[in-house]
Amino acid sequence: MRYASRIEALSDKSLLNAFEVIETPDMISFSAGFPSPETYPLEAIRESFDHVMEESGKEALSYGSTSGYIRLREIIGNRLAEKFNLRYNLEEIIITSGSQQGLDMCGMMFINKGDVVLFENPSYLGAVNALRAHEATLAAVEIDDQGISMESLKAEVERYGDRIRMIYVNPDHQNPTGRSWSLERRKEFMTFIRDYDIPVVEDGAYAELSFGEELETPLAALDARGQVLYLGTFSKTFCPGLRVAWVCAPKTIMEKILILKNAADLSTSSIAQRQMAYYLDHYSLDNHIRGITAMYLERKDIMIQMLREHFPDSISYTNPKGGLFIWVSLPEGKDSRELLIRAQKRKVSFIPGTSFYPAADRHRELRLNFSNMDPDKIREGMKILGEITTEYLKE
Ligand SMILES: Cc1ncc(COP(=O)(O)O)c(C=O)c1O
Repeated sequence: MRYASRIEALSDKSLLNAFEVIETPDMISFSAGFPSPETYPLEAIRESFDHVMEESGKEALSYGSTSGYIRLREIIGNRLAEKFNLRYNLEEIIITSGSQQGLDMCGMMFINKGDVVLFENPSYLGAVNALRAHEATLAAVEIDDQGISMESLKAEVERYGDRIRMIYVNPDHQNPTGRSWSLERRKEFMTFIRDYDIPVVEDGAYAELSFGEELETPLAALDARGQVLYLGTFSKTFCPGLRVAWVCAPKTIMEKILILKNAADLSTSSIAQRQMAYYLDHYSLDNHIRGITAMYLERKDIMIQMLREHFPDSISYTNPKGGLFIWVSLPEGKDSRELLIRAQKRKVSFIPGTSFYPAADRHRELRLNFSNMDPDKIREGMKILGEITTEYLKE
């Protein structure tokens, strides 16, 4: 069989594998970034579906408009204004089948083969893969405790110049490190990038998953030029199985996105969108988010405590203020892929950091998800991982 050249670029199967272990029941998985299924409000969702079927079953089972169900877009617009001071008109918001589709559409819209996309180093693997599929040249900008490194960004912009066609960033409780950009760095970044004709794809997947009361200021709220495309999703705050997410962008960009969305899948599931709108109108997503972030904070704290008590002092790790991940660094010269081989033999999994580096060979980090296992499993898995790590680092 002769395959298209883009398939060659997609050799990293870490994310795919993380999704496959869903089917391995006895594995303690710190791999995939799933919300905890026990948090899904099943009764409320069932009630919402029942209502939608009774009141508008025929519409819900038909094709919907390509831009998405109007009531849902209105609610999303209102939430963005209220929580983030982001002001979009209705025609600047469309519903996508997961944010992953939004990422794919950004690739379709801006990337020709060989064009450069700048990522944070490390970055969300799903975004890296989505852009790899468009045969982008991947380039990476270093990050530090405050966010993207301006020095590194300037160096990459200098290096690639006009070849840069997109910057993808995930500034809140980033996947995979759990880090958030400071407000100062956000402002510095937006001031710098305003002078360049480069679209910024801001992935706000974890924007509302904060352990504190305060939410960060999106880059989109600092966008004087209309160059930010803002992606959001209900996958992490509600349930990923509905595949309901959104893209917000200035009207001129949106006209193009709509054409691509129509070509990709005509429309996002009508029944899922209507269910979501009904839920948002009749229940409190904010209360739900308060409940899940309290649970995730507890799990994160247990994981941190286990790292402190059962791992050698020579490792370091992030202590995130939200999101789903802790990023662990082994000492120089060690390789988390080797650790994974040993961990899997004892039925524990995580994703080696290697996969999250779009353009660098770095192997000593690993990503741990803390949302998806209950406290006992976290203790059990981290104890095993601690033993294996201690042994490995002695060698
Ligand atoms: C940063 C980030 N963006 C997007 C997604 C995908 O979200 P969705 O389920 O809406 O496609 C994920 C999922 O892990 C993610 O971590």
